[in-house]
Amino acid sequence: MSTHRLPPFPAPTTTPTTTPTGVRAGRSVSALICAVAVGAATACAPSEGAVAPSQAAAVAPASPGAGASRSTTGAPGIGDPDFPGDGNGGYDVQHYDLRLSYDPSSRKLAGSATIEAKAAQDLTSFDLDLHGLTVSRVTVDGGAASFSRGKDELVIEPGKRISNGDRFAVTVDYSGVPEPMRDSVNLGEYGFISTADGAFVTCEPNGAKTWFPSNDHPSDKATYDFQITVPEGLTAIANGEMAGTPQTRAGKTTFVWQEKHPMASYLATMTTGKFQIRTGTSDKGLPIYVAVADSFRGSLGQLLTQTGKITDYWSTVFGPYPFSSTGGVIDDYAAGYALENQTKPIYGGFSPEPAIIAHELAHQWFGDSLSIARWRDLWLNEGFATYAEWLWAEHTGQYTADSAFKRYYANAADSMWAYPPGAARADDLFSAAVYNRGAMTLHAVRREIGDDKFFPLIRAWTDAHRYGNVTTQEFIALAERVSGKNLKGLFDAWLFQPKRPAPIT
Ligand code: ARG
Ligand code: ZN
Repeated sequence: MSTHRLPPFPAPTTTPTTTPTGVRAGRSVSALICAVAVGAATACAPSEGAVAPSQAAAVAPASPGAGASRSTTGAPGIGDPDFPGDGNGGYDVQHYDLRLSYDPSSRKLAGSATIEAKAAQDLTSFDLDLHGLTVSRVTVDGGAASFSRGKDELVIEPGKRISNGDRFAVTVDYSGVPEPMRDSVNLGEYGFISTADGAFVTCEPNGAKTWFPSNDHPSDKATYDFQITVPEGLTAIANGEMAGTPQTRAGKTTFVWQEKHPMASYLATMTTGKFQIRTGTSDKGLPIYVAVADSFRGSLGQLLTQTGKITDYWSTVFGPYPFSSTGGVIDDYAAGYALENQTKPIYGGFSPEPAIIAHELAHQWFGDSLSIARWRDLWLNEGFATYAEWLWAEHTGQYTADSAFKRYYANAADSMWAYPPGAARADDLFSAAVYNRGAMTLHAVRREIGDDKFFPLIRAWTDAHRYGNVTTQEFIALAERVSGKNLKGLFDAWLFQPKRPAPIT
């Protein structure tokens, strides 16, 4: 698509100018993907306003149930200081079993979600996140539970007391026409978005609650089973691998998918519609599943080949691929952005060039396997995935990471110097600074410690925190340990100061 055929590298020596839509010149491919999001022309415009204080770095990571230790009411938020309503306290989800049926003609979703959780405190009530939709019944361990609704919260009072450490299962029956998130945090439309023939489902940062009751925050990861029923002729695509062959009965087909590795809620999908499918195996033996909307059928073969090749290459750079399959989906819904849905990144209305595939597949390590514990650390996802674009360019001989770094650095007027990427802001989460200055931070580290320490550092990082949650402080500590150097000044200048750091040597 023409809007995505961007120069391999921006020309950042020009002074950025704000266009009427707020989109700035001289931005990276990824920031542009984000910026062209439908109805969100300003979504990713670098900020001009107040800058988060640098001591933000010292704030402790989100702690589930913080402040609720004596109460038996689970907190309505998991403790992310910038997204106080997101997630919930008092329990830890182990597994989601989602049985869903979607009818594109009425746009009605009907679901039964069973959430297996472990109590982190005594609980007489607790919340799940749910946006819109009508709940008809809730049970806890098979017994009827009472419930009420607050803004994007489903408050549940189990009939019995749940004690700290107990495992329990909540089943929520619900239905309705899902409403995507629209006005929240300057991000355009995300969550469950209905399309002419199905639904385009991309949930970063907090849109999972538009289609299933969840602890909707990346600090509570869980495994998933999906059983999705759609009208015959349509395909339902979720994360992980398909179990068995789709079963058709009475004009409806049911697809069963299983993600057996822990997954953050925003990476879950149930994208449905008319798709052309191809499966294969990468050279290293990893199963690949790709699906494209009919209008992108010309991109199917290329998506399969590039996805296999790039996934294999990243496994030689970042460490073993963390999941059981790789893949990708091109839907014809013109979101204008891509999302790194676990095992199957989705491209919203465009045929991705290799740099974008490289970005989304790098997220399988940075974001998906290693997930942030709070949104202000988003550079650990986007800075790494953007740096991966530079590494891909280096690998394929297009340009070097060093040249990319230098061209950004040369632009003293870039608004990213006013936005410290180590404290991503809730009102401008996907800022170009988080992507590009985040990537520059990694390059500054690479230059400081040398390739012979930098690449082992990256592998040690993915190895130490595989399937877990991470913070910026943990990355800084590991970088110091691996390199044997004090890197506090470097990280402070690159991540936490609202000005352009001194040149790297
Ligand atoms: N994580 C995505 C990427 O850079 C961007 C998602 C943007 N989300 C949104 N709601 N606009 O690959
Ligand atoms: Zn990204």
